[in-house]
Amino acid sequence: MKFFLDTANIEEIKRAAELGVVDGVTTNPTLIAKEKRPQKEVIKEIAKVVKGPISVEGNGCTCEEILKEAEEFSKWAPNVVIKVPMTKEGIKAVRILEKKGIRTNVTLIFSANQALIAGKAGASFVSPFIGRLDDNGQVGMDLIRDILQVYKNYGINSEVIVASIRHPIHVLEAAKAGAGIATIPAKVLESMWGHPLTDAGIKRFCEDFAKTAKL
Ligand code: G3P
Repeated sequence: MKFFLDTANIEEIKRAAELGVVDGVTTNPTLIAKEKRPQKEVIKEIAKVVKGPISVEGNGCTCEEILKEAEEFSKWAPNVVIKVPMTKEGIKAVRILEKKGIRTNVTLIFSANQALIAGKAGASFVSPFIGRLDDNGQVGMDLIRDILQVYKNYGINSEVIVASIRHPIHVLEAAKAGAGIATIPAKVLESMWGHPLTDAGIKRFCEDFAKTAKL
């Protein structure tokens, strides 16, 4: 399973990259706004650290606007992926961009039919938002299972990025479902590392090692 980091914060990205657990990064206008810096500057800095896909989102609504933004964003780094909203205009743009060799990530996916349409259009990635579905009283992970089943049935090659992850159980469930990618907030990734029994075990082994070292 590939781990993407769902953040635009360069320090968080550097820390995770040092540990070798960052296969890509996803950003969105909300995450960029938190950095209080121009998007171009932030993305270029991220691209110095991460060689995997970096998703970048604009605010274009028409196909023409999305294509214009995509042209600009793809100049920033070779690994930039264009986040495109799940709309008719967005899907038109996906077909054109993918034909030109510009990778797209169709975002704000909340149903398997939307994922089917994005997959048929040739999107490189699709981003179903599971946390927001959970917030809305639906089981977000059911959507992941449905999309994976539909893609398998028809040999659709779009990679599924499980997005809007809120806690480690989301990552585990996504992995059990066989999702190829989880985009994980830094805080959630951090909470996946530790276990109190690991800490207790290390302490005990260190103490016992010290005893035999004296012999
Ligand atoms: O990449 C964006 C997506 O993960 C959004 O997450 O927490 O704002 O629903 P959230």
